[in-house]
Amino acid sequence: MYLHTMRILFVCLGNICRSPIADGWMRHKVATESLNWIIDSAGTESYHIGEAPHPQSQRVCRDHGLDISGLRARQFQRSDFEQFDVIYAMSSDVLNELIELGGSSLKKGQVRLFLDEDPQTQGQSVTDPWYGPPEGYDAVFEVIAQGAQAIFQTWLFADKAR
Ligand code: 4NP
Repeated sequence: MYLHTMRILFVCLGNICRSPIADGWMRHKVATESLNWIIDSAGTESYHIGEAPHPQSQRVCRDHGLDISGLRARQFQRSDFEQFDVIYAMSSDVLNELIELGGSSLKKGQVRLFLDEDPQTQGQSVTDPWYGPPEGYDAVFEVIAQGAQAIFQTWLFADKAR
C-alpha cells in the first residue's frame, strides 16, 4: 500500500499519436500494480482537441492488449504545472515549449524528456509516427513501452523511499 500518489502527465504535439500510447501503457501498469497514481496526457497544439487517438495508435495498443479508444485529445494548460508532479515531453521540441511555458515557476526536475529515465536512450526523442507509414507505429510502441517501463521503475522506487 502506497501512501503517496504520483501524478504523471505525458505531452506530445497533437495528443493523438505518441502521448496516448504512453498514457495507455502507464494507466494499465498502475492498475495492474494496484497503485494510486494519476496518469494523463496532453498536446501542446490545438489541432486535434476532442479526438480519439490515431487509428494506428489504437491498433498497435490493441495488438499489445491495451485499449486506448476512450482517450480524448486535450491541449496542455498552464494549470497542468500545478496538477502534475512530473511532466514528460515525448520529444525535445515539446520539452523546449514546456520549459518556455513554465518559465520561472517550473519546479526543478518537473519537466523531463520521456526517454531520459533510461540511460540507453537519454537525450533521444520519440519519433513522431504521424509523418510516416502505419508500420512506424509498431516501432514507436516498442520505444514508448521501454521508456515507460523506465519511468515506472523510477517513480516506484522513489515512492518506496519516501
Ligand atoms: P503526436 O503526433 O504529437 O504524437 O500526437 C502528431 C499528430 C498530429 C500532428 C502532428 C503530430 N499534426 O500536425 O496534426
